[in-house]
Amino acid sequence: MARILTSIRASRLAAREAAGTTRARPGRYSSVAMLDLAAATDPAWAARALSRLDELLIDHAHCEKKAAGTAVQLLFRYPQHAALLTPLSQLAREELVHFEQVLALLAERGLAFGRHRPGPYAGRLREVERTSEPARLLDTLLCCALIEARSCERFGLLANALDGVDAELASYYRSLLAAEARHHREYLLLAESVRDAAEVRTRLDEIAAHEATVLAENPPEPRLHG
Ligand SMILES: [Fe+2]
Ligand SMILES: [Fe+2]
Repeated sequence: MARILTSIRASRLAAREAAGTTRARPGRYSSVAMLDLAAATDPAWAARALSRLDELLIDHAHCEKKAAGTAVQLLFRYPQHAALLTPLSQLAREELVHFEQVLALLAERGLAFGRHRPGPYAGRLREVERTSEPARLLDTLLCCALIEARSCERFGLLANALDGVDAELASYYRSLLAAEARHHREYLLLAESVRDAAEVRTRLDEIAAHEATVLAENPPEPRLHG
């Protein structure tokens, strides 16, 4: 229980830090560490994303749809895990609400949503997943936790970069931070519901290191995870 409460406090603080509403104490906290990420995003990413904001918004809509789809896929793959069912169903619904919100932003801006070539990030990240159970379930949940964490970090960077440029979008991205930090935490709690906490932490650290490697090799495209 103590570990879970610590994780919840850390995620809330991480969201506030990503939003720029509190400052990390040097050498002690950073939102990256509290989101369990092994490396921070390249500082050049936000400027690059802003320079092709329309493409980034379309990519963001696809990411929200994909996040909902992944949660639903897990419901189909693991119907026997009762502890997963309601949290994943709620998470999928929330991601679909985000999808609809981004669709509305696209429509307001006269941007068309359509087919989209996904970046390599998610596919490369998920290469780390083992193929036999129960390792496969643990790895999938941890990959999902890290994708949510990276989204949270990047929404914070985007919100800060959009200040003074596009107040509506800055405010929108800031409004998503708490939800993404919570999704990160929820996937960790689901992992701890199926496997021992020490095993979860060890494997999380391994997959976080892989995630940082994947991010570093990504082509610099206007992608939320690019
Ligand atoms: Fe979302
Ligand atoms: Fe999410």
